[in-house]
Amino acid sequence: MTHKSLTLRFLLIFGLVLGSLGLYAQDLDAGKTIFRNNCAACHAGDMKTNLTGPALGGSQERWADYGGDEALYSWIRNSQAMVASGDNERANQLWNEWGPTVMNSFLNLTDDDIANTLAYINDIYVNGQNLGGGDEGGPVVAAQESDNTWLFVGLAVLLALLSVVLARVVSNLNYMIKVKETGEQVQRRTLVEVLTSRGVIAFVVFALIVLGGYTTVNNAIALGRQQGYEPTQPIKFSHVTHAGIQQIECQYCHDGARRSKHSVIPAANTCMNCHKAIKNGSQYGTAELTKIYASTGYNPSTDKYIENYDQLERGEIERIYKKWIADQYVQSTGGMDDEGEQLIEDQWEGIVEALTNEETGDDKVAGPIEWVRIHNLPDHAYFNHAQHVSVGKVECQTCHGPVEEMEVVYQYSPLSMGWCINCHRQTEVQFAGNEYYQAYENYHEQIQAGTRSKVTVEDIGGLECQKCHY
Ligand code: HEC
Ligand code: HEC
Ligand code: HEC
Ligand code: HEC
Ligand code: HEC
Ligand code: HEC
Repeated sequence: MTHKSLTLRFLLIFGLVLGSLGLYAQDLDAGKTIFRNNCAACHAGDMKTNLTGPALGGSQERWADYGGDEALYSWIRNSQAMVASGDNERANQLWNEWGPTVMNSFLNLTDDDIANTLAYINDIYVNGQNLGGGDEGGPVVAAQESDNTWLFVGLAVLLALLSVVLARVVSNLNYMIKVKETGEQVQRRTLVEVLTSRGVIAFVVFALIVLGGYTTVNNAIALGRQQGYEPTQPIKFSHVTHAGIQQIECQYCHDGARRSKHSVIPAANTCMNCHKAIKNGSQYGTAELTKIYASTGYNPSTDKYIENYDQLERGEIERIYKKWIADQYVQSTGGMDDEGEQLIEDQWEGIVEALTNEETGDDKVAGPIEWVRIHNLPDHAYFNHAQHVSVGKVECQTCHGPVEEMEVVYQYSPLSMGWCINCHRQTEVQFAGNEYYQAYENYHEQIQAGTRSKVTVEDIGGLECQKCHY
């Protein structure tokens, strides 16, 4: 019996070791994802070379004398605030060396996120990115692309071998006891019998179920989540041009955000408010803007909407817009040539490609622009823009990042449940002058009496399942 419990204890330890390794790997993986999505645009992935920003290997040591991790975490969350205050010597050094290049702020990263990212940075810095020494001269068991899979496989094999040996020892001991107790020669269990014994099979099945379950759940949770998603859009619409340089208000175009669940992508008519006048762009000339006209049936040559545009043949539409493109070309170059002919063909092809859709069988040029949707919560989750923008007074950028700096919009936040909940725990509701909150009389009274200093979204029910789930 004691031998049995020995085996059990051994298997338990085996399981625990594997388990803790698993947790460790998840941290590095999480760090890797955060790094890739948020930092890799400016910081080199080998952590050793300078790019737009400095090499990150060894940052933690460099900050040790200047406020340590706490200061480093604040730097990562909001470096510009630190630079502006001028209080931290390391921040000043960095700014002297690297300014005016500005590092983005990452207010939404939790302490865990940052810890994982720094762990990942350190791992790559110390162990290198490649398996097997190679150029980096790193140790042989270094992680492949920082994911420690091979290390685990090796360890698992080692532990499995060990367990076979131990099982063998146990079986030998059992055998000797039997011989001693009964005094007769009994058949010893062979290795195959040991390996196919109930205990071992049960353990293997158990391990597979745990592993399978873990992977499935992880993948299922991440399914449909797509932080960093940055699809190519049918028109090269730039938020840098519109929201950045031209300073157009977000809500001028996304006018749903204030009053409804959805922010809404503007219809082409909103674009036409300006692009009736701005017809030939400084970046792409007629290539992109003509797509808006072909979608709405606006004839830029006559400055009129085309009658019954919906019923025109493709050839008719082609003639109208090719004429416009050709006229603009001639106007700018003084005449038509081969290059011009080619440009007209290319631009027309671009227009057709942008406004038709093979997948949905939409072969009509006329009709709305099919923007590719970037943000997408699963159907079981309920999110309302007006609640956050009008009532909660949360800035678009808090959730969507610095959109006005994005040539192509990408999903900035994870949109995971943890992300929503975290913010609801941390964010104070803006009571002052917000009539929506008149209902919460007792909180008002407590604040006035000084027994309560703040009310977070959590306090008003922001963590209740049914608020976010249908
Ligand atoms: C838009 C480019 C950009 C992005 C994105 C970016 N950084 Fe930076 N980072 C910089 C620049 C530039 C500096 C140098 C200081 C400055 O000019 O602001 C810097 C400095 C740093 C430093 C200080 C290094 C040292 O030696 O003390 C750390 C740490 C850092 N970044 C971490 C991160 C992390 C973590 C992320 C991702 C979550 C990130 N950065 C994303 C540009 C960027
Ligand atoms: C001139 C109109 C216009 C302005 C101003 C504008 N946007 Fe947009 N926005 C669009 C269009 C068109 C799209 C769809 C194409 C794309 O993704 O680039 C879009 C897409 C987006 C998306 C992605 C939507 C999705 O598919 O999930 C976000 C987020 C967004 N805008 C936020 C903002 C924010 C924040 C601002 C203000 C800083 C802003 N927009 C200003 C027109 C505009
Ligand atoms: C509290 C976080 C948060 C804030 C603040 C926020 N958004 Fe969103 N936004 C989201 C989420 C989450 C989605 C995905 C919604 C879905 O799939 O139902 C989204 C989706 C969008 C979309 C895609 C179309 C849609 O409505 O689903 C656009 C465009 C957009 N946001 C623009 C904006 C603009 C402009 C602002 C500021 C006026 C803003 N958002 C403020 C979280 C936010
Ligand atoms: C409030 C005015 C305004 C609105 C509304 C507006 N734009 Fe613009 N857009 C501009 C200005 C100004 C420029 C810069 C023109 C230039 O650089 O030649 C521009 C440039 C562009 C360009 C680049 C043209 C080029 O070749 O350089 C595209 C594409 C574009 N807009 C598409 C759109 C789309 C699509 C919409 C609707 C979702 C839209 N715009 C709405 C003012 C506007
Ligand atoms: C940047 C912070 C932030 C993020 C991220 C955020 N919220 Fe909120 N949320 C708020 C604030 C602030 C309020 C308070 C507004 C109000 O009083 O209704 C709120 C209120 C709500 C409410 C109403 C709660 C109530 O008790 O009335 C719901 C539902 C909600 N959020 C859903 C979501 C969902 C779903 C997500 C994630 C997809 C999300 N929120 C992400 C800040 C956030
Ligand atoms: C503040 C909003 C919010 C609250 C409160 C909330 N959820 Fe969620 N939940 C979400 C969002 C958003 C998702 C989608 C996450 C994704 O796509 O990864 C989600 C996903 C889920 C999922 C699917 C698994 C996953 O992680 O994707 C389950 C199950 C779930 N929620 C259960 C609950 C339960 C139970 C509660 C109450 C204790 C709750 N939720 C409270 C926003 C919320």
